[in-house]
This record gives sequence, structure tokens and C-alpha cells, in this order.
Amino acid sequence: MKEKKIQKDKFKKYKSIEELSDIEKELFTEAFNKMKHAYAPYSNFHVGSALLLEDGRIVGGSNQENASYGLAICAERVALFNAGSNFPDVAVKKLVVVTKNYNKSDDQNNNDNFILAPCGACRQVILEYENRFEKDIEILLMDSKGRVYIFNSVKQMLPFAFSGYFLK
Ligand code: THU
Repeated sequence: MKEKKIQKDKFKKYKSIEELSDIEKELFTEAFNKMKHAYAPYSNFHVGSALLLEDGRIVGGSNQENASYGLAICAERVALFNAGSNFPDVAVKKLVVVTKNYNKSDDQNNNDNFILAPCGACRQVILEYENRFEKDIEILLMDSKGRVYIFNSVKQMLPFAFSGYFLK
């Protein structure tokens, strides 16, 4: 298989969670806690997400699946809609997403380069929150070795995005 190249100028890379700020460590802890509430009997892929809101509040979410597979909602969207529905006037500053499946030996994620990154649909939803509050959202990802990648905006991972003709 062709080696996947990632564009290194789009994010900052850290060796481990230990290099992060206290609030970022707290976000990872919360994301792993929320992951325990994942309802993922179909994929067995448990995901947790935590957001830091502008007012310092932390809200989270986990993936929620359905017997009708296509209805599954990712942890990131559950967290964002949780924030949007409970704290509609507060911007999101940071988003963390994690899984416990980093080291799973029996699937395609069993390699050194696995990074859990938001799916395309979630990227579009994150962008909506950036546009809605006119504020970029930092996205913190982890790889299978516990390294952390920080993007300063979803726009780094969603170029040429659809932004809605009514916005800008
Ligand atoms: N999933 C997430 O919750 N977030 C991601 O970033 C990737 C995928 C969920 C959706 C589904 O429940 C399961 O993981 C397998 O795709």
C-alpha cells in the first residue's frame, strides 16, 4: 500500500499528553471518561469527545449507534450538539476526541500511524460552530502511541469547505 503522507505544517505535534497545559490534560481525561458512555455495540469502536467552552465549562459526548447503522452519530457531533443545545451563546474553544481502540490488534488500526481524526461530516459540523461564533476551534487528536496533534482550526483539515451561501 502507498505510504500516507501528512502535511506537517498544519498542526503542532507533542510527544505525549504530559507536554500539554493543565486544561488540555483535563479535556483528555474528560474525553476518555465520556468514552465509557459510548453506545457502540455494532462497531465496538468506542469514542469520546470533550469540548472546552469559552466560559471554561467542559462538555462532552460519546458515539451513539443504532441497529440501523447509518443513524450512528459520532462522539464529536454528540458533544457539539450537547454544547449547542445547552449553552447556545457560548463559543467552543477546544475539541478533543479519543478512542480506546488505538492499540487494537485485530483491525486496520493496528499500525504506528493511526490517528483518530474527525470524519468528514463532523468536520463540517465543527466548521459550522466556528462560523457561528466567528471563532476558530482548536482540535486536539491523539495517535496510537499517545502523541498529540493540535490543529488551530478545522479549516486546516477541511479545505474548500462548504460554508453556506448565507454566511460569508
Ligand atoms: N466515530 C466517532 O464517534 N468519531 C470519529 O471521529 C470516528 C468515528 C464513531 C462512529 C461509529 O459509531 C464508530 O465510531 C465507527 O465508525
